[in-house]
Amino acid sequence: MTARMIDGKALAEELRQGFKARVAALAAKGKKPGLAVILVGADPASEVYVRNKVNGCLAIGMHSEKIVYDADVDQQVVLDRIAALNTDPAIHGILVQLPLPAHFDESKVLEAIAAEKDVDGFHAENVGALAQGNPRFIPCTPYGVMKMFEQGGVDLAGKEAVVIGRSNIVGKPMALLLINAGATVTVCNSRTRDLAAHTRRADIVVAAVGKPKFVTGDMLKPGAVVIDVGINRLLEGPDAGKLCGDVDTAGCLDVAGQITPVPGGVGPMTITMLLANTIEAAEREAGIR
Ligand code: GUN
Repeated sequence: MTARMIDGKALAEELRQGFKARVAALAAKGKKPGLAVILVGADPASEVYVRNKVNGCLAIGMHSEKIVYDADVDQQVVLDRIAALNTDPAIHGILVQLPLPAHFDESKVLEAIAAEKDVDGFHAENVGALAQGNPRFIPCTPYGVMKMFEQGGVDLAGKEAVVIGRSNIVGKPMALLLINAGATVTVCNSRTRDLAAHTRRADIVVAAVGKPKFVTGDMLKPGAVVIDVGINRLLEGPDAGKLCGDVDTAGCLDVAGQITPVPGGVGPMTITMLLANTIEAAEREAGIR
């Protein structure tokens, strides 16, 4: 068997094309969707993500503001800026890029964002709504993964799903979405004993553990759908400097039924769903939804 590649780049592009008309309709009413992105510090990976988020907005006619602070900025300065953005009519979505420097209280910052502008879906109110099965904003990466299942014709009801990773950004919301879709869900992590015993039972494996090539072909059930959320930069060996996921893709191709590549898989979908959430926030504010 050779696994079908799930092309996240193509799906992202198709969805973004479809967003343009919704953005134009809002702009015609004087309600162009706007996203504010706050970056604290100069983490190189975060800088790239933030640039891609802002450019993704601009490419489909949205408004976007990038707000950058030095790593040693006082937390109150950021909280005050969030308070101003909460009442800014040009801004429908507010995103604080994570991780924040160590002197920040991450939950305090995330809770300061108005729930109706929390396009990351990280505010406790939005996490609670997702847990109850009535999501308002779905965190962008797992939302993108759900779109990929939809596009790949993967019916989740009754399936065995294993999520590797328990982060607030990916693992936990991914598990909630799979539960809501009727899957039987096991949440593992890098320290799970006999991880392969779990993954070998799984029809669906979502790897979001942050360890290069952590999932190998011998850990999979034949025909499994494998979603690779990892983005790791290899530091040594012949491929040093290249990006690699949490899955040994080449070694899984003969076993998996469908698999996402890195790059070009989940990555482009994350920003696409951020755009979707921001447009939806603007539509709600305009009374369209
Ligand atoms: N850092 C890594 N992924 C994300 C994300 O989806 N949102 C934010 N705000 N920070 C991140």
